[in-house]
Amino acid sequence: MNQSFFIKTYGCQMNEYDSEKLNDLLEYNGYKASKNFEESDIAILNTCHIRKKASEKLYSDLGRLSKFKENKKKLGKRMQIIVTGCVAQAEGDEILKRNKSVDYIFGPQSFHKLPKILKKSNSDKVYNDFLCENKFSSLIPSKSKEVSKLITIQEGCDKFCSFCVVPYTRGAEFSRSVENIYAETIALVKNGAKELTLLGQNVSSYESNVIKDGIRKKIRLGDLCQILSHIQGLERIRYLTSHPIDIDDNLLDQHKKNPKLMPFLHLPIQSGSDRILKKMNRKHSKTFYLSLIEKIKKIKKNMAFSSDFIVGYPGETDNDFQESLEVIEKVRFASSYSFKYSPRPGTPSSLKDSLIDCDVVDRRLKEMQSILNKHQTEFNLSFIDKTVDVLFSGKGKKPNQYVGRTPHLQPVHVLSSENLVGKLLSVKLEDLTSYSFHGRLSA
Ligand code: SAH
Ligand code: SF4
Ligand code: F3S
Repeated sequence: MNQSFFIKTYGCQMNEYDSEKLNDLLEYNGYKASKNFEESDIAILNTCHIRKKASEKLYSDLGRLSKFKENKKKLGKRMQIIVTGCVAQAEGDEILKRNKSVDYIFGPQSFHKLPKILKKSNSDKVYNDFLCENKFSSLIPSKSKEVSKLITIQEGCDKFCSFCVVPYTRGAEFSRSVENIYAETIALVKNGAKELTLLGQNVSSYESNVIKDGIRKKIRLGDLCQILSHIQGLERIRYLTSHPIDIDDNLLDQHKKNPKLMPFLHLPIQSGSDRILKKMNRKHSKTFYLSLIEKIKKIKKNMAFSSDFIVGYPGETDNDFQESLEVIEKVRFASSYSFKYSPRPGTPSSLKDSLIDCDVVDRRLKEMQSILNKHQTEFNLSFIDKTVDVLFSGKGKKPNQYVGRTPHLQPVHVLSSENLVGKLLSVKLEDLTSYSFHGRLSA
């Protein structure tokens, strides 16, 4: 009988993409996807290392799973436990030392080896090389029929922000070839995809080459968006996550003239204080960031922005924190994420001893989040009674209810007796309940 597997995914969209790809590879090799760990012969944890809380989830899940494995063994049944993702890359052997029931460890660029290793039961337990090229050339076309799809076009990071583990867990920047991305997009669109989110830890640093008429041409993110937008049936293109210093005119030019490129930009700043930005090794100042936003708004009037903030970076004073709030007041983000600083092993900032008192960090985070939420609500309220394009991607919880997204990524619920999945329609936004709208199809 076919062995079954279940993958639990933590972390960012890049992990979601990897899990989907691993799922496809395992199914292709004769394994069967199951609904939970309890019903599976192979339990896979695709992990995230970004903050302490994220990576600790692995060990609590491993505790539970290893007991389950023992009980299964008593009944004469076998279960294999596999750890993949960013904790696998960062901690490797350490995971095996902390939990003996783990069978194999695969870093994010090595998970494609899993089906083969499972078949020949290898004595090596840890696989964590950094060769992205091998991974992407081993992936198989997706059978998914989803309307909105993620596609990794770039991996790794060369920026080395002082707080961040990504350069160590995902390795150096690597851009997939245009041909490879194009082929995957064509397959997705054939299956019904209408929206594509191009993913990369540093997606705006995307760079590859194509040879045209014997001449080598450099392809940046803007060029790639232009190439993909010619694919018939693909209605929307998004990209995630950008670093402010990599946003170039090539990309902005596309925002100006390519209607398929959505007017929403996630552009993390992390802090509004130049002093802290310097300590973070962010390579941009507050003024650079604010002028970039102004420049983009001039090019694309309806562009909305979101950001990431870290609160309580070592040495952050009340004054530094106020400067972050000032940036928030100036930009008025459509939405944003804010995190408590978490010291991560191996990062330069983890060596600093000027940690901020927990209560102070809690208070600052609460204050920041309440302002960010207020701005998000104001942004959303400004759309009430407006008619916008909504791409419907699935069914809602209620009968005859469908869910879609606006160009600015706002979720919208609409009632309809006709199936709306996959349709791009004009919707009048009528009500706002917390972060999602209720709307009516325009006549
Ligand atoms: N590549 C993106 C984001 C990567 S990680 C960028 O350049 O911004 C996603 C977010 O997690 C970061 O933007 C940052 O806000 C947060 N983050 C990363 N390391 C962190 C840490 N040590 N503590 C708290 N938040 C962190
Ligand atoms: Fe991490 Fe900075 Fe790279 Fe973003 S740019 S992934 S925050 S090191
Ligand atoms: Fe986490 Fe790795 Fe993504 S650390 S945020 S899963 S790149």
